[in-house]
Amino acid sequence: MRIVFLGPPGAGKGTQAQFICQDRNIPQISTGDMLRSAIAEGTKLGLEAQGIMARGELVPDEVILGLVRERLSQPDCETGCLFDGFPRTVGQADGMNEANISVDVVFELQLSDELIVRRISGRRVHEASGRIYHIEFNPPKVDNLDDETWQPLIQRHDDSEAVVRSRLDVYREQTAPLIDYYKNSGVRYFEVDGNAAVEEIRSRIRERLIAVNA
Ligand code: AP5
Repeated sequence: MRIVFLGPPGAGKGTQAQFICQDRNIPQISTGDMLRSAIAEGTKLGLEAQGIMARGELVPDEVILGLVRERLSQPDCETGCLFDGFPRTVGQADGMNEANISVDVVFELQLSDELIVRRISGRRVHEASGRIYHIEFNPPKVDNLDDETWQPLIQRHDDSEAVVRSRLDVYREQTAPLIDYYKNSGVRYFEVDGNAAVEEIRSRIRERLIAVNA
């Protein structure tokens, strides 16, 4: 089964994706994480993506599609995967269709702009593992340290309020059209209230997935 998590920045896609992938033993394909790794490694892709991401804009479709196709050719994707933050444009979704890569279920996480800004400004990340925290809503056991490795947490470069506001504009213009795209495509489509507690959202998504599998 291939699952898509769609939703604005900060809606909780990454947080829920980590749970669901663990539960179902499928890989989490986060194009944002892949791009951040490329930046950390200083690859050609990383250098190209760095400025684009810092401005909150989207990396070109053909670059993203190449990255995803390569990732999907790895054996751990054979039984399915969860796309977190991909596709991000109708062009990316069309590119998947053209490559005969189908999607089975879409979850759209919904959240108001004001909560998005609050969530993102308090987000802290363990860079090596991608584990996600929030200083208020999901704090680490020890201030600013990862629960498992005790390494310091970081704040993402694109998590300033100004960049988040432009990421929201980009979401509305380029990603939100995917809502109707998928609703009209016949895939199973579920709207999820991202305002609920982390655990509650997790159980709702799990229940939906069990029902879809049955
Ligand atoms: P990406 O990394 O994908 O960022 P995003 O989609 O903007 O989403 P975020 O990671 O910001 O948020 P999230 O929904 O995962 O929320 P999280 O779970 O962390 O993309 C970054 C950039 O890369 C893009 O701007 C673009 O430049 C580029 N890019 C990536 N993919 C691309 C693509 N396909 N095409 C082109 N360009 C691409 O939660 C946020 C915070 O809230 C956390 O602190 C968390 O602890 C907290 N939280 C989560 N859930 C709850 C809850 N229920 N209650 C309280 N707090 C919560």
